[in-house]
Amino acid sequence: MKLNTSTFAAVLACLNAGISVATDVKYSTWMTRSIMSRGQGIMTGKGGSSEPLQAGFTQKAFVAIAEKYPTDPLTPHIQDYIRQSAASVAPFMLNATNDALAIDLNRRNSEGGFWYFVYPNWSYLDGMYSLAPFYALYTSDGNNDKEARKALNEMQFQIDLLWCRTQNASSGLLVHGYDDSKTAVWADRITGASPYVWGRSLGWFIMALVDTIELLPKSGCKQRDDLLNKYNGLAKAVLKAVDPVTGAWWQVMNEPGRARNYIESSGSAMFATALLKGARLGYLKDASLAIEATLAGVRAHGYLTDTFVIHNEKGFLDYNGTVSVCSLNSTASYDYYVGQPLLLNSVLGSAAYILASLEVERVA
Ligand SMILES: *[C@@H]1O[C@H](CO)[C@@H](O)[C@H](O)[C@H]1NC(C)=O
Ligand SMILES: *[C@@H]1O[C@H](CO)[C@@H](O)[C@H](O)[C@H]1NC(C)=O
Ligand SMILES: *[C@@H]1O[C@H](CO)[C@@H](O)[C@H](O)[C@H]1NC(C)=O
Ligand SMILES: *[C@@H]1O[C@H](CO)[C@@H](O)[C@H](O)[C@H]1NC(C)=O
Ligand SMILES: *[C@@H]1O[C@H](CO)[C@@H](O)[C@H](O)[C@H]1NC(C)=O
Repeated sequence: MKLNTSTFAAVLACLNAGISVATDVKYSTWMTRSIMSRGQGIMTGKGGSSEPLQAGFTQKAFVAIAEKYPTDPLTPHIQDYIRQSAASVAPFMLNATNDALAIDLNRRNSEGGFWYFVYPNWSYLDGMYSLAPFYALYTSDGNNDKEARKALNEMQFQIDLLWCRTQNASSGLLVHGYDDSKTAVWADRITGASPYVWGRSLGWFIMALVDTIELLPKSGCKQRDDLLNKYNGLAKAVLKAVDPVTGAWWQVMNEPGRARNYIESSGSAMFATALLKGARLGYLKDASLAIEATLAGVRAHGYLTDTFVIHNEKGFLDYNGTVSVCSLNSTASYDYYVGQPLLLNSVLGSAAYILASLEVERVA
């Protein structure tokens, strides 16, 4: 169903019943200005291996802002910044050594699943955020049928592999990744799965589903139907995993409330985004589920705003509480996930917060 007028009315009635929502301040553009003031999302070559991801994700959030607010006085500056960010990535992409790590040349495990980056036989959920929408673009980009079919089949194959190997049937949640050779210290000896559900990796994955569905043809596309089913199942599992006290999500989602576990600000913003956007675009088949998802997204965003958004002395916003990185190149133990450093102003958190804010502004 589409999120129609009566759904909106129901949502607004609930909002008026007490859940606070910012009505007079656009956090989306404010956080955008703040990221630009810090010069973030522009590659310097000194920011480590996640710099291209940071640049790409910042660009994605900024494109979404410029599309939503085309006449905002900030928009020309945002567009200029997107061009700067893209230009900063170009030299990196033109380096043949880096390109050897790119998709078609990327190594695969025995089943054909892509290695995540350089890790032998390991696949991570995180990788799908870049990969799946990229493949889907082949269908909308004038590529011939054969190429488009091949790209879509490959996309589906990678998603299916991860889904089968990482999903916990009882909770419906997906763990961080798996080792096809089942030799990693953390690998389940039968499935190869890693033990923990890491918020941000599942956040990337569910956003990948929504963004890919958006790009695929609305009728006659079996991949789109399949991704819709997966999105519906995962949205339910994510809604079940929400922390009832805060309305947001845990760093280690299959250990809610355990000592040292905490509410993490990037994964939570990604879930808010994916729930709100999927509901808005009519991807949740059940009307009550769409309402639940919308309310949960708005509530989570309110908590993130109250808890992690800091009004700094320069008049910009800081964004706190984002875990630096979690990799399976580790013990992948509980202590590892809850012991990784937290960062102030990681764009992996603040750009996700922009996307969530945009969705909330569309509801309000
Ligand atoms: C290309 O990338 C590799 C690996 O990151 C690096 O060692 C090399 O210096 C780069 N080459 C140029 C010309 O930047
Ligand atoms: C990857 O897995 C295959 C078996 O599926 C194994 O033969 C190979 O040694 C593994 N590669 C590495 C680098 O561990
Ligand atoms: C699946 O999740 C349930 C509930 O969180 C847990 O009790 C169970 O151990 C998990 N199963 C696996 C195989 O991890
Ligand atoms: C960010 O959060 C940490 C706790 O995770 C806290 O110690 C720190 O003071 C916060 N930073 C700011 C600027 O409030
Ligand atoms: C994996 O972790 C080890 C130990 O921290 C480190 O030495 C190694 O460089 C890491 N490998 C990659 C590819 O990042």
